[in-house]
Amino acid sequence: MDLWPTRPVRPGDRARPTVRSSGSLLVDNIGELITNAFDEGEGGPLGIHRDAALLVEDGLVAWVGPARGAPAADRRIDAGGAAVLPGFVDSHAHLVFAGDRAAEFAARMAGEPYTGGGIRTTVGATRAAPDSDLRDNVRRLRDEALRQGTTTIEIKSGYGLTVADEARSLRIAAEFSEDTTFLGAHVVPAEYADRPDDYVGMVCGPMLAAAAPYARWIDVFCERGAFDVDHARAILACGQAAGLGVRVHANQLGPGPGVQLGVELGAASVDHCTHLSDADIDALASHPSTVATLLPGAEFSTRSPYPHARRLVDAGVTVALATDCNPGSSYTSSMPFCIALAVREMRMTPAEAVWSATAGGALALRRDDVGVLRPGARADLIVLDAPTHLHLAYRPGVPLIRQVLHNGVPR
Ligand code: NIG
Ligand code: FE
Repeated sequence: MDLWPTRPVRPGDRARPTVRSSGSLLVDNIGELITNAFDEGEGGPLGIHRDAALLVEDGLVAWVGPARGAPAADRRIDAGGAAVLPGFVDSHAHLVFAGDRAAEFAARMAGEPYTGGGIRTTVGATRAAPDSDLRDNVRRLRDEALRQGTTTIEIKSGYGLTVADEARSLRIAAEFSEDTTFLGAHVVPAEYADRPDDYVGMVCGPMLAAAAPYARWIDVFCERGAFDVDHARAILACGQAAGLGVRVHANQLGPGPGVQLGVELGAASVDHCTHLSDADIDALASHPSTVATLLPGAEFSTRSPYPHARRLVDAGVTVALATDCNPGSSYTSSMPFCIALAVREMRMTPAEAVWSATAGGALALRRDDVGVLRPGARADLIVLDAPTHLHLAYRPGVPLIRQVLHNGVPR
């Protein structure tokens, strides 16, 4: 039985999960409950309740309050004084691929730069793989993420780059996530290398038509060597016209127009944001509905400078953290690892990093049903093997996820 939702949805058309818990379940004896309900509890945006309990009914949070006043329930989980927080929302992952690029990583650690050129290697392996291999790979990485506390994960296409391979990538992705993203404009594939205009025409025409039924979002890698701003704008506009929401791979390898383009188009998220100008930060600060999604696993794995998270947060920009899980630039599915990097390397506070990995990711996906633990939200939560969220950064590399509930079901 697969407990994850299976129907792709469009913005504004949110599906309920297909399988949810039945009966009531009380998570009791919680030392520190992070709700992300800003107006409640302490800790500002984290909305922390001490000595708390949480009631689950029909897969949803039904009640949150002091452990002493907790209602009766059919079943009970004793958190033993540990910290409980919303499941992580990983709003940026590329899980539909075949093969790996460990040798490319080794060469990089010996001094080779990351250019994105290896994407074509994965495209070749992905095109050659049967559906069953691609599906097994998505399931393996989704399960790996779930064990590390991720209860919502966005999944992109982008390693097919033919009409048929992009459509099947998204069809498989939609078996595992409601948040599927059409990334036919990841790079120009080798067979179109000398006619990129033709490739863009194909992406906007038959490829989009085949992909859109399985996608909620459209994304473009707007970067020197991938798609310039005019091509990116054209592709994203076609996606919007087809009913898809916009996200952009922007300003990853160098300064560029991607962030401003995302803001111009009302993107839900601009992702990477590694090389930002003051004008980019101003644009994000004045457009709060566009989230800046930071992907520190990519800087770690490409030995690159980290984004200026502190400047973004201090400017009032909404920041999400995500893994960018992919076989080239960031082969990690671990949100706790990204939190630790954000705190140690990007000077976010542990509270900011935890918020960005939960509520921030939900905003980047324009969802209000996840990333928060208040009545009516999905009962997606993590019981830590620790008394406080601080341990997620304080104890890097340690498996601190004791238990995960997804739609109220212990996993
Ligand atoms: O987000 N930058 C573009 N896409 C991926 C990397 C893909 C790859 O190297 O295979 C990213 O980092
Ligand atoms: Fe990416």
